[in-house]
Amino acid sequence: MASLTIRKLDDAVKTYLRLRSAKNRRSVEEEVRVILRELIEGREEPLTPFSAPPEAAPAPLRTGAVPEASVTLIIGGGIAAFKSLDLIRRLKERRIEVRCVLTKAAEQFVTPLSVSALSHERVYTDLFDPQSEFDAGHIRLARDCDLIVVAPATADLMAKMANGHADDLASAILLATSRKILLAPAMNPLMWNNAATRRNVAQLQRDGILMIGPNSGEMAEAGEAGIGRMSEAIEIANAAEKLLRPPLPRPLAGKRVLITAGPTHEPIDPVRYIANRSSGKQGFAIAAAAQAAGAEVILVSGPVDLDDPAGVTVKHVESARQMLEQVQSALPADIAIFAAAVADWRVANEGEQKLKKTSAGMPPLQLVENPDILATISKLADKRPPLVIGFAAETEHLIDNAKSKLARKGCDWIVANDVSPASGVMGGDRNTVHLISKNAENNAEITVDSWPVMTKEQVAIELVAHIVKNVADKIPEPAS
Ligand code: C5P
Repeated sequence: MASLTIRKLDDAVKTYLRLRSAKNRRSVEEEVRVILRELIEGREEPLTPFSAPPEAAPAPLRTGAVPEASVTLIIGGGIAAFKSLDLIRRLKERRIEVRCVLTKAAEQFVTPLSVSALSHERVYTDLFDPQSEFDAGHIRLARDCDLIVVAPATADLMAKMANGHADDLASAILLATSRKILLAPAMNPLMWNNAATRRNVAQLQRDGILMIGPNSGEMAEAGEAGIGRMSEAIEIANAAEKLLRPPLPRPLAGKRVLITAGPTHEPIDPVRYIANRSSGKQGFAIAAAAQAAGAEVILVSGPVDLDDPAGVTVKHVESARQMLEQVQSALPADIAIFAAAVADWRVANEGEQKLKKTSAGMPPLQLVENPDILATISKLADKRPPLVIGFAAETEHLIDNAKSKLARKGCDWIVANDVSPASGVMGGDRNTVHLISKNAENNAEITVDSWPVMTKEQVAIELVAHIVKNVADKIPEPAS
């Protein structure tokens, strides 16, 4: 079978994989496996957001969701087997499925009934069990899992493993698996220090078998102490979880990202306001994608009907002036993304009481210009974030208007999108955008990168990937 080195892939593919795996909270390797599996089954998510078919259902961001994982737990015959009952519980509370195998000796310490009650699964004890062996049950137990844990791993079981024996179900599984194996040894200190066990431990380590413990402490045998106590259930569960869910790639770790989103409400009187149709979905999706990429995210949002993204600091505001205030107090930031649809004007003569109909006709509303948050922050002399990104929602002459906005506002990039009613962008789940950027070395050089229609989550992931690729490493590391 060919193997694949992620490191050697193109930068764009690596970045895509990193962000997609971060979004789905999987390791990059696991994400590649999922993509291949979906491809073979003909239900793959688009490999790049660019190939998203317009009619495909938008994929929800699964930020915060924990992927399923499964463990085959082999319980060996030792007094520490009682701790394995707690281990089953600890693994299950981490959303890890557990299928248990008991050696003959283990059955002297714990019963299949109690193990199956805790694991909510049938318990396997026999290599020659006609019920499970008619379809090579030991092979399924060896392979239909993500990790094999042996707890307690007795001296006898380790000796069998080191020498490739397969005369019972547990040892046959251990010989037939290609999954990682984590042993939690437990035995009397004399057995642990015996030359034969030392040889077996060394051999198993050479074979790539992982071990946790044993700890030192009191033995079950009265008056005996030393190295040989099985690690506590919680330690084993933590080690298993680390193997199953390795830390995610965090290309924006250490970066502070400030984002505005949603509409603003500009009061006319205590009960009425001027607003627009912005849903805030695009800005919220960017906040979630930046957070999944490891950034510290501050989201300043106008009134929206969305849940705060997990792990993001959200400041809720109503008006443009409040939004500017929160943005200013959130500085400094490494990256600022202004996705809010800020009202250009507010009512100058805001009524203190509800305006009444009068015989004189409509009350005149005087409008004054709101502060331009994007332009204000882009033109800051001292606290200007190194990368400032604006949005341009246009209903006509999209690219030309966006280019002149880039120059007028003084930002580095503009994400331009068509918000004409026919586009369905306002309030919808999809977006068609063009990324207009100034060349960092030569500001007069403008690049227009047009992206096909994609979901707002995919736009967010793609934008974060662009940030990672183009600028993240040019932003100075925060002073420690
Ligand atoms: O409304 P306009 O087309 O000028 O918006 C373009 C960009 O400027 C957007 O990124 C928007 O968030 C930002 N903006 C702002 N403050 C305003 C108006 C717009 O930050 N008062």
